[in-house]
Amino acid sequence: MSTVHVDLGTNSYDIEIGQGLLRNAADHLTSACNDHTRVALVCDSNVEKIYAAAVEKSLQDKGVDFVRIVFAAGEESKSMSGLGFLCNQMLAGKLDRKSCVLALGGGVTGDMTGFAAACFMRGIRFLQLPTTLLAMVDSSSGGKTGVNLPHGKNIVGAFHQPSRVIIDIDTLRTLPEEEMHCGLAEVIKHGVILDETYFGYVEENAEAIKQRNPEVLTEVVAGSCRIKGGVVSQDEKEHGIRALLNLGHTFGHAFEALSNYKMRHGDAVAVGTLAACDLAERLWSISPEIRSRIESLFKTFGITCSVSGYEPEPLLQAMYGDKKTMGGKLRFVLPQKIGAAKVEAVTDTDAVLCALQSVLS
Ligand code: NAD
Ligand code: GLY
Repeated sequence: MSTVHVDLGTNSYDIEIGQGLLRNAADHLTSACNDHTRVALVCDSNVEKIYAAAVEKSLQDKGVDFVRIVFAAGEESKSMSGLGFLCNQMLAGKLDRKSCVLALGGGVTGDMTGFAAACFMRGIRFLQLPTTLLAMVDSSSGGKTGVNLPHGKNIVGAFHQPSRVIIDIDTLRTLPEEEMHCGLAEVIKHGVILDETYFGYVEENAEAIKQRNPEVLTEVVAGSCRIKGGVVSQDEKEHGIRALLNLGHTFGHAFEALSNYKMRHGDAVAVGTLAACDLAERLWSISPEIRSRIESLFKTFGITCSVSGYEPEPLLQAMYGDKKTMGGKLRFVLPQKIGAAKVEAVTDTDAVLCALQSVLS
């Protein structure tokens, strides 16, 4: 088992990573929030069928008083009405200001449940129990919570840190292949922006990762959590270095919005990362080998490298509606090499259109 500490003063917490941890969920709950009252277990309709029983058994064995809240699986649920549903269920379930909420599932569950916890009675505690690779390596730590509006991703939200993150690597056994790809895109993102050694570890262990070897996956998840935790500890509210975690997101959010959120976030980030490489080649003349190395690793894992059915111009317009736009200027995280990246405000829209074209098929 590995522990990664996220150092945020009074909001500090641990990320526990290992096998079989859901069976001891109640112990983690007690050690993270020892004075909690009634608990809510929130999950989507898919995760409910596979993992709710294990967590509930652990709660029952320890005599924890809880209510189960289930919403329809899918990004469409991460909405204002989804948020209202959760808060109403939490009230009907008799949660109070000392309650704690367990977010069991992927990034949709974690983002929306975390935001509900941030809003309910002006803020109650919550634990993240991520079950997708994407949620394990990215969305479950760092405290970004929120929901989408019809025309924008994560437009309404709050920073609200979990009291603990419990990552049971065994849950990856049931994760569909395309969801693994989404998580791997975020794993590779962490290497590209900050850590070439980590990127190299993923390259060298690609076969074991594809086989879902639990020891290697534990290392990969812990490595990503260390990178992300380090960034968040330095810059919780994204005034500086944290923006690097948005590599591929300015492009990616445009694809997500124009697909009406049918495109998976991780797929959009992957394609967006390659578009960012293209843009960095145009603006800064970085070596094309950077993109080749990333694309080759994406292909090893079967990650999406291009998309069809889109035109550059509407994608560009969607980017202007994104919350990363500032003062009317588009802002991108662009790689300088594997292991280093920089935020850049870009006014050369022709270069952006060409970068978009480079990932369209
Ligand atoms: P998701 O939560 O929709 O999960 C993907 C699918 O996998 C769902 O159908 C879910 O039911 C299913 N699933 C989950 N765990 C499973 C398991 N172990 N076995 C089988 N099926 C399982 O999507 P996601 O990709 O986890 O998260 C995407 C969301 O995360 C997006 O809304 C994105 O904006 C957000 N996100 C947030 C942050 C952040 O910092 N807060 C970072 C990255 C992404
Ligand atoms: N996923 C980007 C961040 O947490 O800042």
